[in-house]
Amino acid sequence: MKMSKNTGIHQPRVAIAIMAAGKGTRLKSKHPKVLHEVGGRPLLAYVIAAARKVVPVQDIFAIIGHEAENVRTAVADTGINFVLQAHQRGTGHALIVSQEALSPYDHVIVLSGDAPLITADTVEALRDFHLRKKAAMTLLAAELPNPTGYGRVLRRASKSDDVQAIVEEKAATDAQKKIKEINSGFYAFDVKTLFKHIGELKTNNSHGEYYLTDMAAVLGKAKARVVATKTAHPAEILGSNTRAEMMEIDELIRLAKCHQLMNDGVSIHYPRTCVIDSDVVVGPDTTIEPFVQLLGNTRVGSDTRIRSYCVIRNTQIGDGVNVLPGCVMDDSHVEDKAIVGPYSRLRPGSDIGEGAHVGNFVEIKKTRLGKGSKANHLTYLGDAEVGERVNVGAGTITCNYDGVNKYGTIIEDGVFVGSDATLVAPVRLGKGSYVAAATCVTDDVPQDSLAIGRARQVNKEGWAKAKRASLAKQAQRL
Ligand code: UD1
Ligand code: CA
Repeated sequence: MKMSKNTGIHQPRVAIAIMAAGKGTRLKSKHPKVLHEVGGRPLLAYVIAAARKVVPVQDIFAIIGHEAENVRTAVADTGINFVLQAHQRGTGHALIVSQEALSPYDHVIVLSGDAPLITADTVEALRDFHLRKKAAMTLLAAELPNPTGYGRVLRRASKSDDVQAIVEEKAATDAQKKIKEINSGFYAFDVKTLFKHIGELKTNNSHGEYYLTDMAAVLGKAKARVVATKTAHPAEILGSNTRAEMMEIDELIRLAKCHQLMNDGVSIHYPRTCVIDSDVVVGPDTTIEPFVQLLGNTRVGSDTRIRSYCVIRNTQIGDGVNVLPGCVMDDSHVEDKAIVGPYSRLRPGSDIGEGAHVGNFVEIKKTRLGKGSKANHLTYLGDAEVGERVNVGAGTITCNYDGVNKYGTIIEDGVFVGSDATLVAPVRLGKGSYVAAATCVTDDVPQDSLAIGRARQVNKEGWAKAKRASLAKQAQRL
């Protein structure tokens, strides 16, 4: 126990251990289970976020094993600690290998890295119940309408807090399978008592593993107190053992995200059709139409409209923007009052200036389109710097790649590029210049001049009529 400086009351030292070493066999995946994403974030990230609200980050330990390095890298920025469980020999074994890391603490709260809906309130309720009951082990129980697959809680007596044992689904008798009170997989332990007895765990079960759940019976035998507290929020304990379970959780998280945004003043039509990641920010009075995906760290301002079938990732969109249907955007910026779409593609590094227009079948990559400039139809702009009030005619393309290197195109303010121009980079179109339609621009164009580079037109009078007559004669002969 540590003496609190302010109150003189003994403050127990509490750690949180997150079990995250398992492979997730039931997902049939080559990736570790805890890195599978729901709501656009890895499962483990949610559990860490809840834990951080309860204890300081230096008191959080993730127990990692399967693809440990990938898991560590994915959540390293949180600043938590890691314990390596090199061989995953069960949830009990996960704690066995954590003994050294946890021994400085009085209590440890154990969470499951595959149950992302857990909230800090519930973790605190578990901790407080555990401390109040002075228990050696407290488990968070939940009443589920369909308890299949979960460990069942065997209470000593029907209304008692005291638990006799937890029995896993596979080992449960038919009568025990009817018990609807399940083990959530979240626990609190008195650290000294846990490690005094953890060596008594056996592997005589169908998986040949050390089950942490068996600590209930082990501690009971040692006359240590084992209790359960039933959560009022059973949805929070849902684990993602199968793809179907994981997608159910994903839906819950995304729907909650939509409701949070709607509470903040965003209109979302048919929210069940929208896929909005947890980190996305949207300003008030923005409207999101059905079947829109806003992913990663996308931020959308106020009074903007995102119309149907847009997939937008890691993109910043300003205020009063109109995104028409069917746009795809990645790692880009769209400034206030711009109009994009329908069917525009903004590839990484696109920056659409204030009030600029990007229209149908226009692809933009690593290009700044200045304030009020327009590229409305069938255009490709790559590695370009386009100034203000520029008009890029239909079908214009930058030829930015010679098969090996990429080159830049500079189009200065007020330039008018006629339709079907081919701009062979590196090239610069000077301020206020004109490019005639269908010109292939290979040399820089001086300010205020016209660039025209195409064969002169010749009209052959009567040619078409004569051609038709000759074709008709041929047809008669056949
Ligand atoms: C576990 C409980 C079960 C409970 C359920 C709640 C056991 C034996 N059973 O079952 O009573 O109802 O959770 O969701 O504990 N892990 C490790 N190292 C290992 C094995 C697992 O870190 O060696 C991690 C996993 O990555 C996972 C967590 O522990 O995050 C739980 O393991 P999992 O295999 O999913 O246990 P369940 O079968 O769900
Ligand atoms: Ca699980």
